[in-house]
Amino acid sequence: MTLSVLGLACSPRRNGNTTRLLLEAMDSAKAEGHTTELVYLTDLNIHPCQGCGACSDKGICVIKDDIPKLQEKLIQADRLILAAPIFMMALNAQTKIIIDRMQTFWALKYLHHQTLINPSGFERVGLFLGAAGTKKPDVFDCAERSIKTLFHMLDIRYAQPCLYSGIDKAGEINEHPTAFGEVRKATQALMIY
Ligand SMILES: Cc1cc2nc3c(=O)[nH]c(=O)nc-3n(C[C@H](O)[C@H](O)[C@H](O)COP(=O)(O)O)c2cc1C
Repeated sequence: MTLSVLGLACSPRRNGNTTRLLLEAMDSAKAEGHTTELVYLTDLNIHPCQGCGACSDKGICVIKDDIPKLQEKLIQADRLILAAPIFMMALNAQTKIIIDRMQTFWALKYLHHQTLINPSGFERVGLFLGAAGTKKPDVFDCAERSIKTLFHMLDIRYAQPCLYSGIDKAGEINEHPTAFGEVRKATQALMIY
């Protein structure tokens, strides 16, 4: 079965570590015959949630930017692969901005009891690819919590993530002995759920 795979490159570094992992994942999905689309958050005009609560009314945000376009892609995708770095022990701001802006989905789902997702009717699954400069054992905890919340809101099952600590300079991930192979494997597993 051909799946539509949406990749989200969330780092501000377009040649950074998480984007490199994501490109590997997308390449793997494409090689298996799936349809892929890669979105760089740096290409989007996005603004943070103002917490105004207007979306509680009809699930529509008052901010006019590229978030609705991204939401349409998130609704349509069969698989989501999100790649983001750790900044200050959490997700980088760009990633957090898009997660917060999904509050419109939260309003539709929990206040208006609307079904958001109706792609092909089968379970959707998502993969988180992350990198962090330090090797602190809890360095991904906060980020994982937010990504799991996002996936839950989007009715996307959280697959075993690929998270790499001690990876700092852009491109340092290229020296990792197992990362790219693990990402290819995780991507293949994502397609057979
Ligand atoms: C503003 C900023 C804050 C960071 N904070 C952390 C941190 O708290 N913990 C950590 O392990 N790495 C931290 N890092 C390092 C990044 O996680 C690391 O460089 C990662 O490889 C970046 O991934 P990317 O190349 O995909 O952007 C920080 C980097 C920046 C630029």
